[in-house]
Amino acid sequence: MNTRRLNYLKAMDIDVWMRRDRPEPGFGAAVADSGSPVLPIQDQPDPLATTSWDQLAEMVRHCTRCDLHSSRKQTVFGTGNLRAEWMIIGEAPGADEDTQGEPFVGRAGQLLNSILQAMGFPREQVYIANVLKCRPPGNRDPKPDEAACCAPYLARQIELVNPRMILCLGRIAAQNLLNTETPIGKLRGQLHHLGEKQRPVVVTYHPAYLLRSPGEKRKVWQDLQFALAAYAQTRPRSA
Ligand code: URA
Repeated sequence: MNTRRLNYLKAMDIDVWMRRDRPEPGFGAAVADSGSPVLPIQDQPDPLATTSWDQLAEMVRHCTRCDLHSSRKQTVFGTGNLRAEWMIIGEAPGADEDTQGEPFVGRAGQLLNSILQAMGFPREQVYIANVLKCRPPGNRDPKPDEAACCAPYLARQIELVNPRMILCLGRIAAQNLLNTETPIGKLRGQLHHLGEKQRPVVVTYHPAYLLRSPGEKRKVWQDLQFALAAYAQTRPRSA
């Protein structure tokens, strides 16, 4: 931690105990001034760990954690099968999503639907969410603090869906989810593992990029074949 984890906890209004003689949150156990041990930050409980789908959706609907709440028409939570085996993660709502309150309903969404069909999945069979739940004005890239404020929501969605495979669309989604600055070209073609549960993640290009660069569709198709093969190696979930 990692500053990212600290931001996450701060965004959730969780107090973090740190030694005053340590300017940065460190690794290993922090010790309270009284000398009594407290949990290392990375082991502190997830603030949303017991949040239900309904509670989470309500929290997101009323969220004012970052400035994006003042420019949004509405939040865009996520859509699809709440127990999907495949979870699709994009960047942030655009104008169409901001209007309709559902992820990937614009032109990029139409292409995503075709991609999913090509994989053999109707849209309703997967769960689709974004890193950000509010539209950045003018479709600019999400700022790091905006992504940090929203991260606990996405983390809880992933926990609740408990997917066997996560398909991450585009550089912004991939870098935020995997907490890396590695370029997307290098993130493609590898199986990544997310968090303690080591959830498999495959990265591919964003459908909006494919609309601008249709010649890259072949690479996306390769990524999907890779993801399907990796999925076939995952263990089925217990009922
Ligand atoms: N692009 C995204 O990343 N997400 C959406 O919901 C729409 C467009």
